[in-house]
Amino acid sequence: MTHPVIGWERETPVPNHTFNTYLSAREGRLYFDGLDLAQLFIGGRQDQGFGRILPSPLEIVYLPKIRRKIAQMREIFAEVSAEIGYAGRFLYAYASKANAAEEVVRTALGTGAHYEMSSAVDVEIARLMRAAGHLSPDRLVICNGFKSAGTDYTDEIVHFRREHEGVVPVIEDVSEIPPLVDSGLPFQVGLRQKSYGPHHGRDEMDAVHSRFGMDAASICKAAEMVETAPNLTLKLYHAMVGSQIVNADDFLTWLTPPIEIYAQLRQRHPSLHVFDFGGGVPVAMTLDFSFDYRGFVRRLLSTLQTICARYDVPVPDVMGEFGRYTASEHGAHLFRVIMSKENKSKLPWYIIDGSIMTSFPDTWALGEHFIVLPLNHLDKPFRQVQLGGMTCDSDDVYPPKSSRAPLYLPVETEELYIGFFSIGAYQEMLGGVQGSKHCVLPEANELIIDRDDDGQYQFQLLPGQRPEDVLDNLGYTV
Ligand SMILES: Cc1ncc(COP(=O)(O)O)c(C=O)c1O
Repeated sequence: MTHPVIGWERETPVPNHTFNTYLSAREGRLYFDGLDLAQLFIGGRQDQGFGRILPSPLEIVYLPKIRRKIAQMREIFAEVSAEIGYAGRFLYAYASKANAAEEVVRTALGTGAHYEMSSAVDVEIARLMRAAGHLSPDRLVICNGFKSAGTDYTDEIVHFRREHEGVVPVIEDVSEIPPLVDSGLPFQVGLRQKSYGPHHGRDEMDAVHSRFGMDAASICKAAEMVETAPNLTLKLYHAMVGSQIVNADDFLTWLTPPIEIYAQLRQRHPSLHVFDFGGGVPVAMTLDFSFDYRGFVRRLLSTLQTICARYDVPVPDVMGEFGRYTASEHGAHLFRVIMSKENKSKLPWYIIDGSIMTSFPDTWALGEHFIVLPLNHLDKPFRQVQLGGMTCDSDDVYPPKSSRAPLYLPVETEELYIGFFSIGAYQEMLGGVQGSKHCVLPEANELIIDRDDDGQYQFQLLPGQRPEDVLDNLGYTV
């Protein structure tokens, strides 16, 4: 039976080797897009401009990766559109729920991305980004999430619309329409289809077990309400069908009924012109990942062409709200192995100087896998081990308890450093930033890395928590 490949799977040393598009081994060290990661803890073999030693653990934020991912997706849409003569535009939106850190949002918006949000505080982030010049007036701000009358989120959206024309509330439920009408402000709105989860056809889609969006009949009703409101214009139709959808056939099968509903709505409401497939585009969280992005885009755009032709309506602009795809690979979290413990467990334990479960909640909550590789000693023999965090929690382990994936790390544990990779989406937002965490472990330092126009690395160190910060947060006077 196959298992996810989360690292090196042999007992032999790693030769000079490329693991994926950004991780490679050379002479016993691991390089992240050319950066020798072990240098951060034990010094470098060549000067890459860092010039100091840091304590572990350490969070890594590598901003060029975000720009590259966005550029690659835009390129694919542009090339496929040209190939098949697709007349609509491609609109890349960053779904901030994946990682709302300032440097991540700033970097994504810096590429010209639109902004997808989900809460009142998110509106404030958009406002700050606009004030700082990162969110230009022409950019769309897609407001997903629940927006009942009288909630802070709804009020914030209405206020922000006074400053920013491209605010597009996406209606989850018909009850969200009256507050927008009552605002008297001109709003372009979206409608969210109930479509989250596997389905084949409209009836199954209407019946999916999901709290998001409206069934087909309610969508038609909502469209009529928008049409008759003096200040609302129907712009966008939203149908998100899942997250990290690694099977392109499934992705397309689940998107096809919404595409058909889009075309029917477009016949009745000519102002409608954006098909927003939401999130779901997968990203490599393990080393065996493969997804034919170009093939998926070609099939998506061709399906839109075919169905729109059948209904005799123009093809829409296509929007994706890319969360995981944008943010996952830019993040890494580095630890030191502080102990190797053989206690008649099935495998030796390697204990790290941090917590797996608070740093990557999806490992224990969902049994999710991430890539784990050593930063040094790659030129030494390996053995199969299991990782344990420093908390007293039995779930603070990796691979997850439900996993069949083997983890191999160097036998040599003297000054051994390891990294978790592709952890930049959702993990920090679920585990929380700052605050007090399991077994009161303080948060690690964070190193933000960028590259200038000449390719030189630039480093910015954000200090982690001091013990006093954790204590203060818990109400102790120190
Ligand atoms: C409405 C909406 N859009 C976009 C996303 C981002 O999805 P993903 O991380 O799969 O790209 C989510 C994630 O939950 C979502 O709920």
